[in-house]
Amino acid sequence: MVDVKKVAVIGAGTMGSGIALVAASSGYDVLLVDVSEDQLAAAQKYHAKISARSVEKERITQEESDAALARIVTCTDMTGLNDVDWVVEAATEQVDLKKKIFQEMASHARDDVVLATNTSSISITDLASAVPEAEDRVIGMHFFNPVPVMKLVEVIKGRATSETTTARTIALSESMGKTPIPANDFAGFVSNRVLMPLINEAFFAWEDGVADPEAIDGIMTLGCNFPMGPLRLADHIGLDVCRDIMLVMHAGLDQEKYLPCPRLVELVDAGRLGNKSGQGVYEYGN
Ligand code: 3HC
Repeated sequence: MVDVKKVAVIGAGTMGSGIALVAASSGYDVLLVDVSEDQLAAAQKYHAKISARSVEKERITQEESDAALARIVTCTDMTGLNDVDWVVEAATEQVDLKKKIFQEMASHARDDVVLATNTSSISITDLASAVPEAEDRVIGMHFFNPVPVMKLVEVIKGRATSETTTARTIALSESMGKTPIPANDFAGFVSNRVLMPLINEAFFAWEDGVADPEAIDGIMTLGCNFPMGPLRLADHIGLDVCRDIMLVMHAGLDQEKYLPCPRLVELVDAGRLGNKSGQGVYEYGN
């Protein structure tokens, strides 16, 4: 294990709650921070459900599950960051918000603590510019959804990220049972540069009337051996997240082809955000 005992995760949405659970299951104490009590309560419910499933499947014992859940403490502010050894930011994919959070993270955390971001697409160098005193400790640590299941952590160095920060990030990812793979600091990195245009194109195919969502997903699932079709995957990721990633790539790579499909934008504007809101391309009930 790396020289880390306690990890703070900022943001208790889909990704943050997944990262918190994986860290706790790997033996780390976790401080999960979110401004919303409701979001923290939802994260705790998710942790209990996934842990119970692991016990049921005999992957862990009841005692191990109880111990992992007990290692996660929640809080609505960042004051507790003064005694953590690592921070992973997993807030909404908006540059200004993330920069503000980074400033707060840097002001509370010790000056040897790595400030990692789970951003899906935003430049690490740009985020690090918000904390010039900590630039060498800022790094991309990009997990995949669902975090307890997906093995990859995409590791992205910014312009000033030190070799020590990179080596420690690789070690921490491995200690959490993940496989870290490096990518360079371009908008969308590798994963979303390749995935999001595919998802966006599936929305265009639907909008143009090439086929309905079930057929588009069926064709891509059966024809390309995808575990789920691109439209269902978009619901799973969050349609707002998909739109935001396209916008970040459009701004960062300056090409028309990264504009989000109007059908995707319409659904987000209508509050249909995917699984998390109960409706997206598909209906999910509760
Ligand atoms: N959290 C934890 N575990 C979950 C889960 C979740 N949200 N969803 C499913 N699982 C677990 C299930 O409990 C089940 O575990 P089991 O071994 O105990 O039965 C296992 O995953 C398989 O689930 P299911 O049998 O219900 O369904 P599937 O076999 O269809 O698998 C899936 C579900 C793993 C989500 C699979 O469909 C898949 O791999 N889909 C693609 C996911 C993907 O591409 N993710 C990347 C998105 S891009 C991203 O995250 C980057 C970001 O920047 C946008």
